[in-house]
Amino acid sequence: MNTSDFSLRLLDWYAQHGRELPWRQTRDPYRIWVSEIILQQTRVAQGYDYFLRFIRRFPNVESLAAASEDQVLSQWQGLGYYSRARNLYAAARQVVVLGGFPTDYEGIRSLKGVGDYTAAAIASLAYGLPHAVVDGNVYRVLSRYFGIDTPIDSTAGRKLFAALAQEMLVPSRSADYNQAIMDFGALQCTPRVPQCAACPLADGCQALANGNVDKLPCKEHFTRVRDRFFTYVYVRCGGETLLQRRGAGDIWQGLYQMPLFESTHPLSPREVEEMVGHLGRMTRLCSDHRHQLTHQRLHADLYLLETDNRPSIDGSWIQETELGSYAVPRLVQELLALLGDR
Ligand code: ADE
Repeated sequence: MNTSDFSLRLLDWYAQHGRELPWRQTRDPYRIWVSEIILQQTRVAQGYDYFLRFIRRFPNVESLAAASEDQVLSQWQGLGYYSRARNLYAAARQVVVLGGFPTDYEGIRSLKGVGDYTAAAIASLAYGLPHAVVDGNVYRVLSRYFGIDTPIDSTAGRKLFAALAQEMLVPSRSADYNQAIMDFGALQCTPRVPQCAACPLADGCQALANGNVDKLPCKEHFTRVRDRFFTYVYVRCGGETLLQRRGAGDIWQGLYQMPLFESTHPLSPREVEEMVGHLGRMTRLCSDHRHQLTHQRLHADLYLLETDNRPSIDGSWIQETELGSYAVPRLVQELLALLGDR
């Protein structure tokens, strides 16, 4: 096997500059799996503490499988993309039924929520199997170094980059190689301000030679961002408040929130009063609090309704002092903080 200059330089770079991360001190497939699921949509800086807390709370796959979905979602609170947590939980139960963590690529790939990327990451990092990962970092590093402008979100692009990644993999060092190329993308060959002046791959980099580093990788589609207008009403009635649980088919499935009215435009205080009924004192606590998701920009208003009469809004009444034990989206957490000492 002829190991390319590209791959050897990456490995050298990694030996010097690779990050020391808590999930790199282990070959335990469970810990590696948890870390990879957390890092799918979360930056290392944010994922770090979540990982440590998650592992402290659920140190092995059996303890995760024995928990309730609500307990798992609580640990995930604030990380976003909650289907990751629901799938992780479902897969933990699958693993327990199977009698142990699968030890080959196909077995790992068959777990709920585990796609090509995660299966390759676990197979290589836990078992040293020769499967190359392809994530956003890998697309960026390969497209720049080899000067490839095939769109990464096209069928042809996905195939081409998967094959090239596999070709560049150093099979006997798959764990180090995969982490090397990802760290290199995260730290050196970054999206906006790559460190080309101090790059160990600069002399072979096609994009640098052609002056199109900032144009690669290419994408076929731009994803449109949708605006949504959320009006939350925190109801206070005799020490109790109303909570709703979010259903399937939209963001934040299974998480809790105060009553929410969604509209196609910002609602005026009068419109909100009309929807809720003129029951008590309504105070607007914030207006157009922005919250950015990948494909949605949320605009949130928060009202406090203090009343002696329970409004007829869907939801369950709970003691206000119990609020802390419900898993809520980060946006709701931020809004609840505005209630402060009120
Ligand atoms: N991003 C997600 N998983 C990673 C890993 N194992 N190493 C570096 N970056 C990552």
